[in-house]
Amino acid sequence: MRKLRLGVMISGSGTNLQALINACEKGDYPATIEVVISNRPDAKGLDRARGAGIKAVCVDHKGYEERSQFEDAIHECLSDHKVQLVCLAGFMRLLGSEFVGRWKDRMINIHPSLLPSYKGLHTHARALEDGVKFAGCTIHYVRPEMDNGPIIMQAAIPIAPDETEDSLIAKTLEYEHRMYPAAVRLIAEGKVRVSGNKVAVKEDVALPNAGLINPAP
Ligand code: GRF
Repeated sequence: MRKLRLGVMISGSGTNLQALINACEKGDYPATIEVVISNRPDAKGLDRARGAGIKAVCVDHKGYEERSQFEDAIHECLSDHKVQLVCLAGFMRLLGSEFVGRWKDRMINIHPSLLPSYKGLHTHARALEDGVKFAGCTIHYVRPEMDNGPIIMQAAIPIAPDETEDSLIAKTLEYEHRMYPAAVRLIAEGKVRVSGNKVAVKEDVALPNAGLINPAP
């Protein structure tokens, strides 16, 4: 089986990276992580990658005067490793439209909200503040506007009456860790088609009438 070559970009802890590492360690998983790139030298995810025997590179944004130079260095690193799909996993720098354009439909992101609601930071706290009954997470193709682009997969997560920001973050991460390897698998198996701002997934298994009501009636 020829595997899809991934480049994972991180800035921090890298628990989503870890979920991808775990998936790729299974022999029948159709993707392999070729390189992990962090813009921060102290990102824990770099250690996770090295611990798993994966090439881990720091491209420190502070070392570049212009964002375009920083992004050129990342592009070169991804190209050197013949990356076919870039997975942003907690990468906390905004990427310019030129870089995003070079990786159009070949770069995905995971975001801890039900997009298009709650783009940006502090998504869980903002959802709690608004009193919404569902939070969630989204995997989408990357477009130049922040947290925007064709949506591949989402999880809707009911918010409990006693929910705290910490409990919601933890709950959401569990879904993120299940979804990221699943979404990458769909792409690697050629089951994901982008047309315009929409994604069609072959053999979509969404159940009809499987909506959730919260609180349960
Ligand atoms: C996740 O919540 C992800 O959705 C967001 O940043 C966080 C990264 O967490 N983009 P981790 O570094 O994967 O633990």
